[in-house]
Formats: sequence, C-alpha cells, structure tokens
Amino acid sequence: MNNTKKITESITWIGASDNRLSRFENIFPIPEGVSYNSYFVDDEKTAVFDTADVTVADQYLENLKTVLDGRSLDYLIVLHMEPDHCSLIDKVVSLYPEVTVVGGKQTFTFMGQFFPESAQYKKLEVKEGDQLSTGKHNFKFVSAPMVHWPEVLFAYEESTKALLSADAFGTFGALDGGIFADEYDFDKDFLDSARRYYANIVGKYGPQVQAVLKKAAALDIAMILPLHGPVWRKDLDYFLGKYQKWSTYEFEEDSVIVIYGSLYGHTASAAQAVARMLREKGAGNVRVYDVSGVDVSYLISEVWRCRKIVIVCPTYNNGVYPPMESFVSDMAALSVQNRVFALAQNGTWAPVAGKLISEKLSQLKNVTVLDNMLTIKSALHPGDAEALGSFADAIINA
Ligand code: FEO
Repeated sequence: MNNTKKITESITWIGASDNRLSRFENIFPIPEGVSYNSYFVDDEKTAVFDTADVTVADQYLENLKTVLDGRSLDYLIVLHMEPDHCSLIDKVVSLYPEVTVVGGKQTFTFMGQFFPESAQYKKLEVKEGDQLSTGKHNFKFVSAPMVHWPEVLFAYEESTKALLSADAFGTFGALDGGIFADEYDFDKDFLDSARRYYANIVGKYGPQVQAVLKKAAALDIAMILPLHGPVWRKDLDYFLGKYQKWSTYEFEEDSVIVIYGSLYGHTASAAQAVARMLREKGAGNVRVYDVSGVDVSYLISEVWRCRKIVIVCPTYNNGVYPPMESFVSDMAALSVQNRVFALAQNGTWAPVAGKLISEKLSQLKNVTVLDNMLTIKSALHPGDAEALGSFADAIINA
C-alpha cells in the first residue's frame, strides 16, 4: 500500500519508517524506529529530494510511483550522500532514466564512490546560491558543510517558505501515521530521541550548526522539512531554540545526573548514596545510570540535557573501568563543553580512576572538574558520611 503525506498542495512526503532496524548506523539503538524522509514536488517539472534507505526500498518506490502517477521524473535532488538517504539513487535512476540528478560538486564525487554507475547519469551541479525552478517552485541552495557531512546542501523554496534541511532538525523515531510535529506531543513523543540524535550524530559539529543557523536566520522560514522525523510548520522557534542550545553546548536543565560503573554492586550502592544525599540537600530530580546497562548514546544525550555530571567509577587494571572509559572518550570525541563534573572513584588497593578521568576531562573546553573527589575503598561505609556530605555540597554549590 502506498503511504504518502501531503505537506503542501504540491509537496508530498514519500518517505518511509523502519521499525525493524535495531541500530542506526549499526551503533545507536533505535527501539523507537526511524523515518527516512523524501519529498516529491508536483510542478511543471517533477522533482524528488533525496531517496531513502535500502531497508524501506519497496515502500519508497511504491510511494514514488504513486505520486508520479505515470509522469516522468525530471529531477532527483541529492542534499546528502549518506547511504540512509542515497542508497536508492541508482535504483531510482534505473527506473526513471530520464531524470537529471542534482547535487553539489562533492556530492557527485561521493556519488561516484558509492555508485560508479553514476558516471552515466544526467547531472546538474549546483552550489550555494544557485537556484532550481520546477515551475511554480523555486529552490535556492544553501551550503551546510559538516552538518554533518561535508557535502550537505539545504534547499529553500521561496513560494512555500519551506527549508529542506537534510539531517538538521531530524530525530530518531518512526512516524506513526503523522507527518507534522504539531500532530504529536513532541516533548513526550520525540524530544528525547531528537536530543539523542543531535548529540550523537551532529553534536561534534556545534560551530558548523551555528554557522548554518545564522544563514537560516536570514531566511523567512515557514516550514522545516528534515530527512528524519516530523516536519515543522508551527512553533519553529521552539525547535530552533533547542538547536541554538545544543549547538552551543548549553545545558537544557540545571540538573544532575549520576553515572556509575560497578563490578559487584559496591560502587552502585555508593552512586545511589550520592544521589540520595544530593536529593536530600535539594538537588532536585537526580537521575542515576549504570554505564554498563545503558547504551552510551543515551548517556551522551543526558550530558547534553544536564549541567552537572557525577561520575562514580571503579579502578580497573590500574585504569578506568572500560565502559566508563568508553563514555568519557565519547564525550571527548563529541567535544562536550560547558559542564561541571564531579568524580568519585573506587579502588580496593590503588584507586586511580578519578585522576585518569579528570585528566581526560580537563582537555575539554570550558569544563569544571570539582576538586572535591570522593574516594571509596571497596565500599562506602557509615564512616564516610562526612566525606559524602561535603561531596554532595560541592556539587550543589557548583
Ligand atoms: Fe540521515 Fe547523515 O544521514
């Protein structure tokens, strides 16, 4: 069954959702699924913006055939060459050989790498500022390098004030029959997924997102059409505001998360004691996560949400407990900034995890690592109450 959604009188979503894929990029768990968005323009010339992942090929090609309704396809515009959007390019070109494929110079370089057959395609190369008219619609291309690949283009359509924003403003999460963000309770249904998507996939490229937000501010935008998740036609400032915060590494909430690793439960018990003490001293809604039990992408998302991160970590092989080391390395790889860290370390004979984590965190920009480190010898005991209290005080006062 074809499954399309009208965005405007002439622009139709022809994408598809995938609820079977367990990990996006074979890394990030997506129990909420994911949508691959593609947009069809019904005009004097027909045009399609991007394709979809091969996993949804049947649905996608049926949708495309339905909206074309026997017409030829004039343009296939490629805003982003990552395979979740481009894996069906060659299939589309083989089905509609008259199509002209539109993209930037680097887009065609990448296309040749993924599809050597593309040497034979009819091509139109565009760059920032160039325009493509399909008749009543006029698309102007905006370069968005490293959001989050180097070749990315946005397209702004003047008559509908629609911004086709590639991966920017996208989110994990299948579309459950809707297409507009205002058809959902976005905070409940998508915000956590959108933050996790941003932080893990785009998070490293905050300055580049800032650059493109400045370009977007110069446009009169009524709709944002991303490559994943719902389309925005209302409350754009709400989501633009989130992007402003996320891309400047500002926290969303002045709240605390406690992330611990624990081999046998003693460090877990200490982490719970820290959380209890923080709540009793007025820290508010403290969340506690086991680094071994929660996928690191969720932890990274929580780092983007919160201002203060408490790490409670055992020493392991005279180093950092490996799952915690992976989490700390991921924060460094994603250029986390503007956060306060408090460290508690455990060790039965030579606790060093705190010092090693502190050294790694100190390489991050504008990060405070509190001097008051809590050291646990095997387990936290009633005799540690004073140290625990002053550790919690330091976190609350930071
Ligand atoms: Fe959704 Fe960068 O691909």
